[in-house]
Amino acid sequence: MALEHLSVGEIAVILPGAATVFRRHKIDFCCKGDTVLAKEAESRGLDLAALEAELHALETPGVHAPAETADLIAHIIERYHKVHRREFPEVIALARRVESVHQDRTDCPRGLANLLADMFEDLEDHQHKEEAVLFPAMIRGMGPVLRDPIARMMQDHDDLGALLRFMAELTDDFVPPEGACTTWRALYAGCSKLDMDLREHVHLENNILFQRFL
Ligand SMILES: [Fe+2]
Ligand SMILES: [Fe+2]
Repeated sequence: MALEHLSVGEIAVILPGAATVFRRHKIDFCCKGDTVLAKEAESRGLDLAALEAELHALETPGVHAPAETADLIAHIIERYHKVHRREFPEVIALARRVESVHQDRTDCPRGLANLLADMFEDLEDHQHKEEAVLFPAMIRGMGPVLRDPIARMMQDHDDLGALLRFMAELTDDFVPPEGACTTWRALYAGCSKLDMDLREHVHLENNILFQRFL
């Protein structure tokens, strides 16, 4: 299958494991999912043929997306909303510890705990709106009237994307510095997991669920 003319969002849907490859190359398949692969490769200076070969070689299972809308919504809540609610407080606590113990080091991720706390607060508000209003309306089969609320949710997703980029900058793309302690390593592993989960979560909403109502 020729991939170059497909959008990165489509590829992430049809090709299991593509999300992981995109993340490795910092290709935004969730908020900028409508960008065509060839264009994305060109603008990022990536070798298109090598990228396509990497995508074709995928064998691992990709983002799981149930076909029925109600099932997809239940999956998003169970696999993402609830998991973020559990993991954010743990990662914020790790960040506070690292920032206080290692404040003298130049590579200390200063501001990471506050960034994570802000992200979590915004996300909670956003998830609540989805769970209380938008998702039930979708399950009831409401159509075009959902355009505006969906646009607002997609704007929130874009804002979250900007914060994720900032988190990656602060953590040197989740690579702990030489000699980092276990807490520091656990922190960056936790941030990396949050990043992947949040990108998959936004991808399922922007590129699959919301498209059914636009
Ligand atoms: Fe969501
Ligand atoms: Fe969302």
